[in-house]
Amino acid sequence: MTAPLPGRLQSFWNEAAVTAPPRRLGDGERVDVAVVGGGLCGLTAALLLARAGRSVAVLEARRLGQQVTGHTTAKVTVQHGLIYADLMDTFGEAGARAYADANRAALDWIASAVRDRQIACDFERKPAFAYAERDDSLSRLERERDAARKLGLPVSLDRHTDLPFPVAAALRFDDQAQFHPIKYLNAILSELSERGCRLFEDTRVIDVDDGNTCRVTTETATLPAAEVIVATNLPILDRGGYFAKATPQRHIMLAARLAEGAPPLAGMYISVEAPSRSLRTATGAGGPLLIVVGEAFKPGRRDTAELTRSLEGWVTSRFAVRSVDYRWGNQDYFPIDRVPYVGRLLPNSRHVRIATGFQAWGMTNATAAAMMLADDILGRPNPWAETFRSTRIHVSAGGMRLLKENLDVAAHFVKGHTIGSAEGTPERLSPGDGGIVRVEGRAVAAYRDGDGRLHAVSPVCTHMGCHVHWNAAEQSWDCPCHGSRFDVDGKVLNGPTVRPLPPRA
Ligand code: FES
Repeated sequence: MTAPLPGRLQSFWNEAAVTAPPRRLGDGERVDVAVVGGGLCGLTAALLLARAGRSVAVLEARRLGQQVTGHTTAKVTVQHGLIYADLMDTFGEAGARAYADANRAALDWIASAVRDRQIACDFERKPAFAYAERDDSLSRLERERDAARKLGLPVSLDRHTDLPFPVAAALRFDDQAQFHPIKYLNAILSELSERGCRLFEDTRVIDVDDGNTCRVTTETATLPAAEVIVATNLPILDRGGYFAKATPQRHIMLAARLAEGAPPLAGMYISVEAPSRSLRTATGAGGPLLIVVGEAFKPGRRDTAELTRSLEGWVTSRFAVRSVDYRWGNQDYFPIDRVPYVGRLLPNSRHVRIATGFQAWGMTNATAAAMMLADDILGRPNPWAETFRSTRIHVSAGGMRLLKENLDVAAHFVKGHTIGSAEGTPERLSPGDGGIVRVEGRAVAAYRDGDGRLHAVSPVCTHMGCHVHWNAAEQSWDCPCHGSRFDVDGKVLNGPTVRPLPPRA
């Protein structure tokens, strides 16, 4: 039996309640703009459009704000690991500048919103550091410093941090920020409600038709809309092939209570060496909490229980912590060329737009994407839109990575269907365990709960047919191909799929 893992299986942020009064979608509604996906990107776009006088509806398959946005580190920063030197190589100085300017404008927009509406969301200005522990990483930091400096970003190389272990060097970006994402979203939801925006939870969109009037189809009703924004982490619409242009990456995260009297960190941190670690502190009820993010991995391809234990070991060996109180996972999509896709679903799409590929820097990238989408719908020029254009052709370096990623997906698809991964029968599963087992000659994704009851579903992902894998740390079925996830009863936790895993008797 798997040893118990530390802490509650819950995001620290999601302990704060979302305060929007949600409604159920019925027939007879009609709006100027339908936003599919109630995370930071969708809600910010909805707000910008509502402020411009558009009637807006937001349709969220689960709970507003509590999916990717509610599982983030909530760093509001233009420091995105080591990225600007790569962007200079791929997009040239103008493209790298557009990425920097878009994220800087997003940071400023969030800061202004917090100030103007006096949002109590623990917003704090702090420097963001990318640190190295080995001397041989120094040249990478220097290369990034030179690129960022050329773009006008507030960067310097430092050897001193308030981390409780030595670093060889740290790239410091001044005047960045962090906040509590749910408290911030509650202020956006409050203004959306004031402006008459219709907010629908538990409303899963299963298709969108483009046309003079778009039709947004949910499991229970259809919503006509003049314009549609799909902001669902990865688009739920397969047209456009974004599932093949952005790869899913998952992270295990912990929130640990610091020892009595320990001060919060003065900065936010991310390591540039493997295994990567991202750090910040947050305000907790009994003192500061240290939030730690582990290395990225592809869903369904690593032992998540082992990753969690390893991350907890790293935290407790490096920081004075009293307890690990929360653990959770988060997922985001990484574009082939490191710039999010924002704009039309297809080159000939008239009224359906998407945003995806925020590569785990979703607070600023999502806000910038919302600004671009709103500008496009309102007919306003946007200086960053061409760099982020969703239908851009991939440059050669990205093209090779794209090919490799898709061959990798194809290998998983074939493997799942040829040799399978079924091992033994359901009897081998202890309470709390899950795995692919054989039942009457068929592979079944089975989980035994704490009462000994078996939950059995099909192991075939309803997106495109890859076999799901057991995620022991988060008690879910994860698809290694494009990142769809399901709970133990087959309910969809993450797209791109919109259909549950069928039960197996
Ligand atoms: Fe695409 Fe599972 S997410 S096949």
